[in-house]
Amino acid sequence: MDKRSNLSLDPQLGCPTPEGRDNEYPARAPEGSSGARLKEAQERAWAGQIVAMPRRKTSVLRPQTEQAKTVEPAKQTEVFRPKGYDYLGILHERMEGDMSRIFNGEMLYPRQLEFHLASDGKQPCNFHCGHCQGSMGDQSLDLDTNKVLNLIDLIAGRTEYVIFGGQYTEPTLDHQLLDCLTRVKKYGSNFGLTTNGSLLKRLEESRGFLSGLCEIAEDGDYLTLSLDAGLPESHRRSKNTQEYWFDEIIEGLRLLCSIKARTGSPLTIRVCYLLNRWNMSEAEISNIVKIARGLPLASLRFSVPYAIYGHKFSRVRRYRDRWELPTSSEAQQLLEPYVSQDQSELPYIFYFGPEHQNVDRMNFNQCVHGYYQITVAADGYVYRCSSIAQPLFSWGRLGPIPETREELETMILRNQDRSFDCSICFEHGARCNRVALETNTWYDSVYGGDSAP
Ligand SMILES: C[S@@+](CC[C@H](N)C(=O)[O-])C[C@H]1O[C@@H](n2cnc3c(N)ncnc32)[C@H](O)[C@@H]1O
Ligand code: SF4
Ligand code: SF4
Repeated sequence: MDKRSNLSLDPQLGCPTPEGRDNEYPARAPEGSSGARLKEAQERAWAGQIVAMPRRKTSVLRPQTEQAKTVEPAKQTEVFRPKGYDYLGILHERMEGDMSRIFNGEMLYPRQLEFHLASDGKQPCNFHCGHCQGSMGDQSLDLDTNKVLNLIDLIAGRTEYVIFGGQYTEPTLDHQLLDCLTRVKKYGSNFGLTTNGSLLKRLEESRGFLSGLCEIAEDGDYLTLSLDAGLPESHRRSKNTQEYWFDEIIEGLRLLCSIKARTGSPLTIRVCYLLNRWNMSEAEISNIVKIARGLPLASLRFSVPYAIYGHKFSRVRRYRDRWELPTSSEAQQLLEPYVSQDQSELPYIFYFGPEHQNVDRMNFNQCVHGYYQITVAADGYVYRCSSIAQPLFSWGRLGPIPETREELETMILRNQDRSFDCSICFEHGARCNRVALETNTWYDSVYGGDSAP
C-alpha cells in the first residue's frame, strides 16, 4: 500500500507539501505584504464569494427570521450557480419541498450514495497531489467491488445519484468501474464520476471506456475532471509525479468530448482547477480557458484547496489566514477577465471562494447531511459522510458495507439522527464539505438553539 511516503507536512501550515519544497507550497502571502495589506486581502477574499456575475450575497443562506422559516430554501438562493452547486436547493428538492421531514424519525433515502472504490487494490492513486484531502492516516484499500455492485442492486434506484469519487483514491484504476456505472443506469439513477483523468485515453484505447460512458449516459450524469493546471509543468508539480501527464489528459478529454459530440451523448463534463503557486499565472489560466472554450464542457470551476482533513481547527485557521485568503484575493483579480458574465455561457467559468469551507462557520450541533448522502469508503466501511470516509475517523463508521437492504436502511436511519453531535467531528479535525456546511448552517439558523422542534 502506498503510504505517500514522498509527502511531508508543512510544519507551519499543516498542509502536505511535495518533498523538498516545504517552503514553496502553499505558504505564500502577497509579496511585501504588510499586516494592513493582508487584512485588505482577507476582506476582499471574504467579500468575493463566487466570482461570476451577478455576485452572491452570503446572507441569503442564513435566514434568521421567523419569516425565513417558511420561505423555500431554493428560492432564497438568489444568485445563479451551475446546476449541481445549489446544495440547499438540491436538499429541498430531495425532501419534496418539506424540510420539516428532517429528523422526524422517518428513514428517507438520501439524495446520493457515494463510493470510494479501492482503486486497483494496490495503490490508492497514481498521483500524489500535495493538496490531497485524504493524505493523512491509513489509506486502506479493502472495499470489494463485487459488494459495491451488490449494494447498487439493493438500492435499486432509490437514491437519485450514485457518485464515484474518493478521499485518496482514483476510481478509474478500478477495472470494474464501467460495470458499476452501467449497474447504476440499470436502475435509472444518475451517476457522477470524479477523476484525475490520467487514464481516460488509455481506457478508451484498451476497452472502449469513454465510448461506453457516453453510450450509457443520460441527462444528469456527469464526469468531473480534477485537472488543476493549465500547462504541463504546473500539472506535474501539482500532481507530484515524475512524468508529465498533462498532454495525455487533455487528449483524453478531447477524445471524450469528440465521442460525446459524435454520439449526441448528454453526459455532462466539468473541469475543476485547484489553484496553487505553480498554476496561478496569466499563461496557465488563459491556456486552460482557451482549451475549455473549445470543448463542449458544462463548467470550469476554480477554487483554492482547503487544508487536508485531520488537522486541528487552529492549524486549519492558520492555513486559511496565511494561504487561502491571500490566494483567494489574488485569484479573483487574475480570473476576473475570464469568469462568465452570463448564466447561459458554456462552459460556465466561475470561482468558488474559500468561505464555503471556513471552519469558523462550523459552529452548529446537528448534521442534516445524512439526507443528502451516505458514503462507502475504500476501507470497506460505510461512513456518515465523504469527508470523514477514512480509517483516521473510524468513530464515524456506521458499519461494514451492508449485504441486505435492511442493514442499509438501519445505517441510513442512524445517519439521520438529531442527537448526533457534530462537535465529535470537529474535535477530531474532521470538517464538513461545502454541501454539508451550507445545509447544516441553514438548518441551524432555522431550527437550531431555542427553535429546536
Ligand atoms: C480526493 S479526489 C478523488 C478522486 C480523484 N482522484 C480526483 O482527484 O478527482 C476528489 C476531489 O477532491 C478534490 N480535492 C482533493 N483535495 C482537496 C483539497 N485539499 N481541497 C479541495 N479539493 C480537494 C480533488 O481535486 C477532487 O476533485
Ligand atoms: S488525484 Fe485525487 S486521489 Fe489522487 S492524489 Fe490527487 S486528489 Fe488525491
Ligand atoms: S463532518 Fe460534517 S457532514 Fe460529516 S458527519 Fe461531521 S458534521 Fe456531518
